Amino acid sequence: MTQVRLENVTKVFPIEGQALASIREFGRALSGGPKELLGGKAEIRALDKVNLLIRHGETMGLIGPTACGKTTLLKVIAGLIALDEGAVYFDGQDVTKMPPWERNIGMVFQDYALYPHMTSLENLAFPFVVRQREEEIPEQVRATSKIMGLGFDKLLGRLPRTLSDGERQRVAVARCIIREPRVFLFDEPLSNLDAKLRSQTRVEIKRLLRRFRITSVYATHDQSEAIALADRLAVMNEGRIEQVGTQGGDLQLARQPLRGGLRGHAGHELLPGAGGERGAALRRLQPALPAASEEDAAAWPGGDPGHPP
Ligand SMILES: Nc1ncnc2c1ncn2[C@@H]1O[C@H](COP(=O)(O)OP(=O)(O)OP(=O)(O)O)[C@@H](O)[C@H]1O
Ligand SMILES: [Mg+2]
Repeated sequence: MTQVRLENVTKVFPIEGQALASIREFGRALSGGPKELLGGKAEIRALDKVNLLIRHGETMGLIGPTACGKTTLLKVIAGLIALDEGAVYFDGQDVTKMPPWERNIGMVFQDYALYPHMTSLENLAFPFVVRQREEEIPEQVRATSKIMGLGFDKLLGRLPRTLSDGERQRVAVARCIIREPRVFLFDEPLSNLDAKLRSQTRVEIKRLLRRFRITSVYATHDQSEAIALADRLAVMNEGRIEQVGTQGGDLQLARQPLRGGLRGHAGHELLPGAGGERGAALRRLQPALPAASEEDAAAWPGGDPGHPP
């Protein structure tokens, strides 16, 4: 198991030229939070001094409205984008400069990212072929198939285009599991599925997360999905983590001043855009977060800078 810690992580994307012009045209440059608009140049602070601790074996739900920085945060953990500031630690080791292929991360995205010309079996086997460990394939596939549950073996001989969305997502999850990742990252993996498949696949993913206790981050717009799957939740807004807490904090979530709102159980918006003074007043009403655990205290020797107890 692995503990992941982000310390003061900042990622700024520059916007220039045509991109800036079109953003201005649609008025979005002013709605995305702290940005500098300086003589034809601008920047998006996708992550702004983010401090976050993901404990050994826990699933951290990452929720927040579109463009708040969820995917960027996952990419930072995976090592897919360089930071402007701050550091990432795995079990206390600074991995900020470690390339993605050395981090042993499993990522499941909204759009599956299976190799289209390979069957499910070949997709699962591919990491072993690359590492010249072909002899492990039969046993690993058998074990993973068992873990994935009923009917999964029937998908093994099929190409991705012949699978349903839900089946493709199961194969994508299996392809991650088979590599025994140190950290599992999910980026809205269920958002392309219809409601029935979404709840089915959600149950499967939950079963896997509980069974293996792989340290995981699960990003989603959908508050109810995050609550169902995660041990704790981090609420993001405009590149910042505004709150970290447990399920008991549901009402706090509904009162978050999230631009664009979060989707609740029935798909309706929850207090959209309660920013400014009203947002600040709501935040003051929120009860304190749970006290930090011993693991948190050890991870932040000088106290947690982002989430004081
Ligand atoms: N490669 C990039 N170049 C420029 N800006 C980027 C890039 N990647 C992300 N951004 C910007 O950074 C901000 C955060 O984007 P990110 O994709 O992390 O949001 P998100 O929370 O995952 O949104 P969604 O819920 O829509 O997936 C957005 O304003 C986005 O436009
Ligand atoms: Mg995203």
